[in-house]
Amino acid sequence: MSSFLQDYLGWGEQVRRAVESPLERVTRAKEVKGLAVVGMGGSGIVGDVVRSLAANYAGLSYPVEVVKDTHLPQWVGEGWVVLAVSYSGNTVETLAAVEEAIGRGAFVAGVSSGGALKEVLSSKGLPWAGVEGGHAPRSALPSLTIASLKLLQAIGVGVGGDLSRVPSLLRRAEEVMEIADRVLATVSKGVPAFIATSRWSGLAIRAKNEFNENGKTLAAAMIAPEWGHNDVVGFEGSEFPAIFFKEPGNPVSEAVEAVLKQFSKKHLIIELRRAETQEEYVAEFISISQAVGIASVRYGQGRRVDPRETASINLYKKVLKEVINR
Ligand code: PA5
Repeated sequence: MSSFLQDYLGWGEQVRRAVESPLERVTRAKEVKGLAVVGMGGSGIVGDVVRSLAANYAGLSYPVEVVKDTHLPQWVGEGWVVLAVSYSGNTVETLAAVEEAIGRGAFVAGVSSGGALKEVLSSKGLPWAGVEGGHAPRSALPSLTIASLKLLQAIGVGVGGDLSRVPSLLRRAEEVMEIADRVLATVSKGVPAFIATSRWSGLAIRAKNEFNENGKTLAAAMIAPEWGHNDVVGFEGSEFPAIFFKEPGNPVSEAVEAVLKQFSKKHLIIELRRAETQEEYVAEFISISQAVGIASVRYGQGRRVDPRETASINLYKKVLKEVINR
């Protein structure tokens, strides 16, 4: 078995280590007028998780922005907390947004395994939390998510709930493997479309990204209810395999399911667990991401590509760095 697949199979342990790993004492933000979570790709997905927790559970009285860009929205500045997440700590877009945030007087904090992000923040005495090395950014999702939520809580952003409960709330390994098998069987041919309701939009994005990077294939992420007003028509008479992450208790889910049953030739409905609390949301997000990650690695292996290697991302990063530093 490949070590990359092993990496995904070891997420239960990775979650436990992340929950138990101590956070250094950090300064609390004096005020929080808003939160922006900055990061790209496998690190940027943490922003989607944080936003959904904030929008649906946390009871915060301020806005949360997810920034996957070199620039921050104009309204992010003094009084805002900016959390930068980058597994390598060297991603150009993230570092550019951090410089901008510091320049605007925001309270900046970061999560990485090291790199320039650690250096920049440490040199300014700003909060930074380390995550374990040795993974690809996307296979470090548990560490990145849990470290980010712990750091946010420590600086005074009340999001994430009781993270110590996450390990016991994860799905059993057999359940995860069974979902991975079903996903793999569904996406065997064609461009896979991953559909989720707004609350779980991060899952659809995450699944798309995993099939792009590990499977080296095009894939689509679609978010309902907007899905029902445009994407849905693309399924009429087409062969796209559809995977729907079904949110229990949301009427939109019933409508999506009915339409898929009538119009999609190949689809899979994955019933999500009801997430009443933030830690239940985090655990379900990690479990389903693990299943999709395993399926995407096996999909790549089936196509005889190296799931871990991402030559085109490396070239993109190299050229962007050269152009930005010119
Ligand atoms: O999963 C991946 O490998 C990528 O999507 C990276 O996360 C992305 O390129 C950003 O790099 P980093 O996570 O190191 O900031």
